[in-house]
Amino acid sequence: MSSYATVSPQVVHESVLCEARVGLTATPKTLSPWLFYDQTGSHLFEQITQLPEYYLTRTERAIFIAHADEILQQAAAGSTQPLTLIELGAGTATKTGILLAAAVRQQGNVVYQPVDVSETALDEATENILVHIPGVTVRSQVADYTREALPLDRLRNTRTLALYIGSSIGNFAPADAVEVLSNLRAQLQPGDKLLLGTDLAPGPNKSVADLLAAYNDAAGTTAAFNRNVLTRLNRDLGADFDLAHFRHQACWNPMESRIEMHLESLRPQTITLPTLPPIHFAKGETIHTENSYKFTPQTIATLLTSANFTPTQTWHDPSHLFAVTLATAI
Ligand code: AVI
Repeated sequence: MSSYATVSPQVVHESVLCEARVGLTATPKTLSPWLFYDQTGSHLFEQITQLPEYYLTRTERAIFIAHADEILQQAAAGSTQPLTLIELGAGTATKTGILLAAAVRQQGNVVYQPVDVSETALDEATENILVHIPGVTVRSQVADYTREALPLDRLRNTRTLALYIGSSIGNFAPADAVEVLSNLRAQLQPGDKLLLGTDLAPGPNKSVADLLAAYNDAAGTTAAFNRNVLTRLNRDLGADFDLAHFRHQACWNPMESRIEMHLESLRPQTITLPTLPPIHFAKGETIHTENSYKFTPQTIATLLTSANFTPTQTWHDPSHLFAVTLATAI
């Protein structure tokens, strides 16, 4: 195993401050979703993925279990070179093991390059994979692929299969999503592959109520995840948010085909942060903290072709809640 390039705490602090300065002085107020993922937030997200209402993770896992061998065969089709698997935003890579095991079945061994901002998550992923899937070599990379064009350390004489799963692409506005995939595409060779996981828009087997429940669970885990961003600003920047005066909100925006998460101020209040002017909130005013776009076959195809990929094949669960699409770099 090897690992390189860390994101320094100083750089992270500057970025948090910049987000707060820009987002909290804007109208409407916003904060970027990457702020969710401090240690507590990453832990809460792991809990979200196991909630009964949050169908995304288990549905994508079921698609991998049912189709991993076929996905890997299609990814390797047309080339005699072995595949290297690169994963953007790998986290603890819990579902990726299914694909890695299929890659080992197909080609005997495989190099896996997970990329994530969290070194702790990458260490956990590496340990799990090395223990459970013989034949995998892990070369982890700590980097923020969302804010820098990723310099990929390509292995010679291999084909790349890039994984961007979990519908993480849905947390970007359409133009930003194209940019993320275009940056990835710039690091690939024609014929390399991308496997993209996307959550689907409401349909015959998915109501808006199902979607809302996934982002407003009964146990309050998503609410804790959302409100943790305020705890982070208190800790990292010395802000004085009182969490008792903010409420988690999730709503469906049909025009944009997205779930929105907000933090609603329950009363008029003023928040202070060192080095920033006071931040005033009216009662009912919100901070928009996340968008989670939900896709159709059309919007998946448009996104991929805009980033210079050709969609090759899509796999679904039987209820068509989620899609996993293989695409080829043109
Ligand atoms: C990481 N991402 C795909 C999750 C989502 O569903 O948009 C983040 C999340 N936000 C609330 N719950 C989960």
